[in-house]
Amino acid sequence: MNKKMIIMTKINIKPRAIMYPSPAVIASAYDNEGKADVCTLAFATMCSHQPPCIMIAINHSAKRKTLEDITLQKEFAVGFPSIDQVSQTDYLGIFSGHDEDKLEKLSLTTTKAQNVNAPIINELKLSVECKVINIIKIGSHAQITGEIVNILADEDILDENGKISMKLLNPIVYDDVLYDYYSIADKVADAFNVGLKHK
Ligand SMILES: Cc1cc2nc3c(=O)[nH]c(=O)nc-3n(C[C@H](O)[C@H](O)[C@H](O)COP(=O)(O)O)c2cc1C
Repeated sequence: MNKKMIIMTKINIKPRAIMYPSPAVIASAYDNEGKADVCTLAFATMCSHQPPCIMIAINHSAKRKTLEDITLQKEFAVGFPSIDQVSQTDYLGIFSGHDEDKLEKLSLTTTKAQNVNAPIINELKLSVECKVINIIKIGSHAQITGEIVNILADEDILDENGKISMKLLNPIVYDDVLYDYYSIADKVADAFNVGLKHK
């Protein structure tokens, strides 16, 4: 930090769950009749390199159908929608699979994942297949840790080296304070590199 920077007065704000940036991803699982259900999640992040794991958190006090399905199956998928799918992503986070078939409503289709018993949304360009490692209740939410056992990517989001390109995926950024969606901006620097100038 620049030592000459003016220190502004900090305002105290009531505690709430907060993280910048937050993603908007879509969790999917089969119910006890083999019907696919999905819901939009902002509480989602990586939590282990080895084994590769992500964690998602779903409100257990609010009867989320997708949580019931994941708890039952112990397997699920997480898909990463692109910016042009923002209205579908929002819809999947407003209505419950308890009340309607959201996938049919949006004309979204699914295929059973290759390595887990969970539905993959065909229209999403990137999805991960997960096996539940544990589910821990933390306050209002059930924190689900899943080991990623496979990643499915459309060819058109891979760069010239065959790596997943965030720019080509064009994922949705979500602001859980103002309830807004954003797109990612430009790349600004190389990670594990730009910081070296301060060494
Ligand atoms: C942008 C966005 C993010 C959301 N993030 C979460 C979340 O992280 N955890 C959660 O429990 N619900 C979250 N929700 C709400 C659920 O997606 C919503 O309650 C959904 O209707 C649950 O569907 P289901 O009952 O079919 O599982 C989010 C909704 C939106 C629109």
